[in-house]
Amino acid sequence: MMDLNGSKPLMKVLGGHTADRPPFWFMRQAGRYLPEYREIRSRHPGFIEFCFSPEDAAEVTLQPLRRYDMDAAILFADILLIPGALGQNVRFVKGEGPLLEPSLSPTLVSRLSAEGAADRLSPIYETVARVRRELGDNKTLIGFAGSPWTVATYMINGRGTKDPSAARVFAYREPQAMADLMEMLVSSTAEYLIRQAEAGADVLKLFDSWAAGLPEPLFDLLCLRPNVEIARRVKAKVDVPIIYFPKGSGPLYLKVAQSGAFDGLALDTHMPMDWAKRELGPKAVLQGGMDPLLVVEGGKAMRDEAERLIATFEGTPYIFNLGHGFVPETPPEHVAELSRIIKGI
Ligand code: CP3
Repeated sequence: MMDLNGSKPLMKVLGGHTADRPPFWFMRQAGRYLPEYREIRSRHPGFIEFCFSPEDAAEVTLQPLRRYDMDAAILFADILLIPGALGQNVRFVKGEGPLLEPSLSPTLVSRLSAEGAADRLSPIYETVARVRRELGDNKTLIGFAGSPWTVATYMINGRGTKDPSAARVFAYREPQAMADLMEMLVSSTAEYLIRQAEAGADVLKLFDSWAAGLPEPLFDLLCLRPNVEIARRVKAKVDVPIIYFPKGSGPLYLKVAQSGAFDGLALDTHMPMDWAKRELGPKAVLQGGMDPLLVVEGGKAMRDEAERLIATFEGTPYIFNLGHGFVPETPPEHVAELSRIIKGI
């Protein structure tokens, strides 16, 4: 058994070692369910402007660790900063979510440029550096970006939606414009992640929140290949582990694992966990899976599911997390209880 008092338990597990208890963090651990987040958020008129304010962004990155002492902080930023850096206008409207204007046509794709995009995101690297300075040696700092397909669905649709079919139609109808857009997203995202690692991020995560529902050839083209290419470019420059989250991709998780490109794979909520352990576990360190709505509910239902996940992955390198992010209605005391369950106290 490894020494959990040693430096960075999460990094050891991501390196393939097992631990006495799973290291943990939570998707959307910083956010509206915390009153101290809402307090700082209220001082900023716009969400993007907030993301570009290193002092406050660093503060909200650290807030959840003060309460729950998780093993990792995740950079406070958003996957929709890249479209702005490529030249699309992005803003968040209260009650409506993100608006990206104008939504993309092939002509508009040809007006975007990845040239200098990573430089335009320099306040984010300052946030990373600030958090790294304040974070203890035993804590991991996770940097992140959206995966190209997921970011493209917002760019093409022009707003947040539960239905990314406009982007799928675009991919079929305009294959060349789609390929050009993907190449811009791959190169800007790889450079953005390299800069985060150079500023002090220990781990990088790619969020492919809209990977579900793609036919296999499209999944290969728009999810698997671009993320493998980003991992290749990042690892050619910096020595950091990468976690990929191909949310909802079901059996196609197997192809992702078999690519060998990623150190970690983040599991969504409806993943059969025994299957994941058996088929994916030998190829990548597994993370996640807990239904965030169980943390809204709390109590026995939450405890039973946390214990099921911990028992399933016992003896394997596993990072406890959710299968998707906390919702704003999550009671903070349920998060405290879940943290105690994971720590075994
Ligand atoms: O604690 C953390 O998770 C770190 C910060 C973080 C945010 N967004 C902050 C945020 C991270 C890692 C993200 C990722 C992100 N952003 C994803 C991928 C993960 C997922 O949830 O699937 C996606 C799809 C987005 C895009 C996005 N950001 C949308 C659609 C929205 C609006 C809907 C909503 O949840 O409000 C956001 C806004 C956003 N990003 C908020 C936060 C805390 C809330 C906005 C606010 O406080 O005003």
